Amino acid sequence: MPTVLITGAARGLGLDFVKQYAARGWRVHACARTPTALEGIEGDVHAHPLEVSDYDAVNALAAKLAGEQIDVLLNNAGIAGREATVLGSIDPVVWRQTFEVNTLAPLMIAQAFVEHVARSEQRKMIALSSRLGSIALADSGRYAYRASKAALNMKWKGLSIDLAGKGVICVVLHPGWVQTDMGGAAATLTIEQSVPAMVNLIDGLKPSDSGRFLNYDGTEFPW
Ligand SMILES: NC(=O)c1ccc[n+]([C@@H]2O[C@H](COP(=O)([O-])OP(=O)(O)OC[C@H]3O[C@@H](n4cnc5c(N)ncnc54)[C@H](OP(=O)(O)O)[C@@H]3O)[C@@H](O)[C@H]2O)c1
Repeated sequence: MPTVLITGAARGLGLDFVKQYAARGWRVHACARTPTALEGIEGDVHAHPLEVSDYDAVNALAAKLAGEQIDVLLNNAGIAGREATVLGSIDPVVWRQTFEVNTLAPLMIAQAFVEHVARSEQRKMIALSSRLGSIALADSGRYAYRASKAALNMKWKGLSIDLAGKGVICVVLHPGWVQTDMGGAAATLTIEQSVPAMVNLIDGLKPSDSGRFLNYDGTEFPW
C-alpha cells in the first residue's frame, strides 16, 4: 500500500487525514508535537514527535525514514497568526512565527523529503494553503496569515516547476472553511465534509495538475 506523511497530525484536519488514510490501508507517518493524541488509531500508523520549525528534527526524521518511499507528503501544520492589522500595531514576533510555520517549514520539509517522494509511485507534495492567501480574492485583515499563505503558494508553484523533472506533483489545497480550532464553530464545513473530499482529490491528481491551487472540491482558485 502507499505511504503518506502528515504534519500537524494530532488534531483538526491533520488528525482526520491520519484516520482517513489509515482506514484506506495506507502506511501513515503521523507527525505531531504531541503524538499521544494518535494513540489508539487503528491501522499502519506510525507516530513521530515533530515541531515543524525544528529543522534538525525534520532532517533527523528524514534520515530515520531513509529507506521509505513517501507517496504523499502532506504539509498540513499551520497557525492562524492572528495579529492587529491596523498600521501602528503590527507585531513582528507574530509575523516571524507565522512565516516560520506556514511558509518556511513546509519548504524545509519538502527539501528533506524530496527523494523519499521522488522514488515513490505517486510522487505528490501537497501543502494546505488557504483562500485567504489568494491575492486575487484579497480582503482586509489577517495580514500575516494571508501573506504567509500567498508566499507558500508562490513557493509551491516554483517547486512544481523545479521538480517536474523528477515527476513530483506539487499542489496547494484550500480545505474550505472548516470547523476546527482554527476555523471556529461558525465555519461552513465539517471536517467530515472536507478531509475525505481532499483525500479523493489527492488520489486523482495527475502530473498535469502540478502547480495548481485547488479548493477541496476540485475547483480552481485564482492566485
Ligand atoms: N480550518 C480552516 O477553516 C482552514 C481554512 C484554510 C486553511 N486551513 C489550513 O489547514 C491546515 C490545518 O488547519 P486546522 O484547521 O486543522 O488547524 P488547527 O485545528 O488549528 O490545527 C493546526 C495543527 O497544526 C499543528 N501545528 C501548528 N504549529 C505547529 C508547529 N510549529 N509544529 C508542528 N505542528 C504544528 C497543530 O499542532 P498542536 O496540536 O501541537 O498545536 C495542529 O495539529 C493549516 O495549514 C491551516 O492554515 C484551515
